Amino acid sequence: MGIEYLEREGLFRLAAGNVEYVIGIADGKYVGHVYFGKRMGDNRCGCLMRTEEAPFVPSKNLREKCSFADMFPAEYSSWGVGDYRDSCLNVRSEEGFRGCELHYEGYRILEGKPKLPGLPSVFCGEGEAGAGMTLELDCRDKVLGLKVVLRYSVFADSEAVVRSARLVNEGDKPLYLERALSACMDMDMEEGDLLTLAGSWARERHMVRRPLAFGKQMVSSFRGESGHQDHPFLAVMERGAGQDQGEVWAMHFVYSGNFVAEAQVSQFGSVRLLMGINPEGFEWVLKPGEVFVMPEVVCVYSDEGLGKMSRIFHDLYRGHLIRSPYLHRKRPILINNWEATYFDFDTEKLLEIAREAKKRGIEMLVMDDGWFGDRNIDEGSLGDWEVNEKKLPGGLLHLVEQVKALGLDFGIWFEPEMVSPDSKLYRTRPDWAIHIPGREPVQSRAQYVLDLSRPEVVDYVYESVARILRSAPISYVKWDMNRQMTDVGSAFLGREHQGELFHRYVLGVYELQERLMKEFPELLLENCASGGARFDPGMLYYSPQIWCSDDTDAVERLAIQEGTALLYPLSTMGAHVSACPNHIVGRVTPFQTRGHVAMAGTFGYELDITKLSEEEKLQIEEQVKMYHRFQPLVREGDYYRIASWRENHRYDCWQVVAKDKGEALMTYVQVLAEPNWHSRRLRLKGLDPEAEYRLEEVGTCQEMAGKAMAGQVHKGAFLMYGGLLLPRMEGDFRSIMIRFVRV
Ligand code: DGJ
Repeated sequence: MGIEYLEREGLFRLAAGNVEYVIGIADGKYVGHVYFGKRMGDNRCGCLMRTEEAPFVPSKNLREKCSFADMFPAEYSSWGVGDYRDSCLNVRSEEGFRGCELHYEGYRILEGKPKLPGLPSVFCGEGEAGAGMTLELDCRDKVLGLKVVLRYSVFADSEAVVRSARLVNEGDKPLYLERALSACMDMDMEEGDLLTLAGSWARERHMVRRPLAFGKQMVSSFRGESGHQDHPFLAVMERGAGQDQGEVWAMHFVYSGNFVAEAQVSQFGSVRLLMGINPEGFEWVLKPGEVFVMPEVVCVYSDEGLGKMSRIFHDLYRGHLIRSPYLHRKRPILINNWEATYFDFDTEKLLEIAREAKKRGIEMLVMDDGWFGDRNIDEGSLGDWEVNEKKLPGGLLHLVEQVKALGLDFGIWFEPEMVSPDSKLYRTRPDWAIHIPGREPVQSRAQYVLDLSRPEVVDYVYESVARILRSAPISYVKWDMNRQMTDVGSAFLGREHQGELFHRYVLGVYELQERLMKEFPELLLENCASGGARFDPGMLYYSPQIWCSDDTDAVERLAIQEGTALLYPLSTMGAHVSACPNHIVGRVTPFQTRGHVAMAGTFGYELDITKLSEEEKLQIEEQVKMYHRFQPLVREGDYYRIASWRENHRYDCWQVVAKDKGEALMTYVQVLAEPNWHSRRLRLKGLDPEAEYRLEEVGTCQEMAGKAMAGQVHKGAFLMYGGLLLPRMEGDFRSIMIRFVRV
């Protein structure tokens, strides 16, 4: 790892593992993108900016400055001065003029990496000297009195480059930011594909690949959260790139609110990637002396397809983003009562579940929605965070003590950011809800969103949660958020500042969770948003795990978890076994398959254990044992995708390999049985080719009994290049897990 300035060539070279990121200064003032890819180590690479190609030379031929700007590979493009592609920055002056031209002025190379105030930020790693380095480039628009600082960080143990930017108003008049994106990157790419993640409620983060085409292709959110529908991620890849081969360039946004991620193919066949806060509905007033900090973008290059890209993201997030003490700890196996009871529960029902759960080895009971105010359906009481003693006679402490006495830990659900119109809070403080005066706000799930741009609301919300946590020994919080924003107005922010509400709201959420972490450092926090609507790197900074989706069907989960694991370590994916028929799709899958699929995440149960058959309860005992055996490997290992049901419509397969390659775990799910078929050959990945591995079956479906594979020993090379013959299985939705141990 390193950052160097090549003075003679006017180049900055950031080296991260086998990757380098090169920035050039053209004509002494324009910051240009030279290269992001495999290490070249050639100081003459600045020609890639094409500044010497006539007529695109700005200084020698002023008439052609416009052509120059529209072709120049910018590191941070600005609006209105000749670059007609989409830009990062657009600023309006107090006089109402738009346009901004940034000139490079100087640089700093820093040891380590500074934090971003109030925002999640990738960090270097525990006090390690030499763990990371940062480059800052200062640029100015003298007419506006605006300073822009571009920041780039690299780390000793990662090939990712982390970018952000900050704006400083050095003038004496306010500036109006109409567009303030975090990063852009221009690359030559005449043919390629764009990869994004798309979905909906219960169908989050499905991978979508399409050809790059002339013009703009983008995903975005202006829902106030990152959202079920789009994900703050994009990657461009060579046409032939796949899991293990081909070049991929990816960007992922460390932010939890409105975003835009765009790929724009220009008239010259270059592609511009842009990422940042969505300009729609955004305007920020930057007063003299004020600073605006933009959230970070993680840039990843892989020359070995999506698989390597995933592993770079996973390692970066585990090593440099998640701060929770649970990161490297075994998470408790929990049972959550949502799908078991919905709102219909009381202390006795919860204790019944807890007693049975304890017998089977489950470690924590989580009480979901419905324990407070007068909430018996989803139409009231949000904001009134007082225990409903009709349901929990004797109060919360009484329940928690009894659960603890059984030997289980206790967790609780909150939806702190919301208020129901039917609540004491709304009746007393209707102005605390986000709304536009004179307009009846749109309800969604019969609730409104609280105005977290208001410090007193943040304080109220914090105290509501903290008071409950102080009142009993609570080990876990599920922090939910079940609606998107409409009627985006604040009774607190003045006329000029309404465009700041979306971003200020997100800053409020971050402040709340930061305070929670400080006061309750041992709390295990799981974020959630109507399933997985706010599963993003921003939230990972505060919670080590996020509920992936309300869809707990084992088959639906395959595509959801594949898309999520494209970017996120398995240890972050909230995944539970639920009852069948599944509450969303009505599908019936074997209990074992549900267990195997949930084992790829944090693992737990989402069902009424008291209603299960003895056979199913015995399977829970079995799954609990497996979880204890495999959790460290799943949590810390390298993830490999072997096959995708989303692509082949028949089966799914993934693998986790220990960092030292001493152990691996493969999970295979046969979604649909095929007639007249032989054994399936699966090639493993990531093993030591020279080592010998013994196969240990750890969960086999009944049809395969008698064809046991346990005990076989094979070379890693055989398993990876020759492949494993998996005997034919009968029946749909069957699964098997195989452990490989180096002998
Ligand atoms: C949405 C979550 O995703 C569910 O798991 C559950 O907690 C409900 N909200 C409760 O309202």
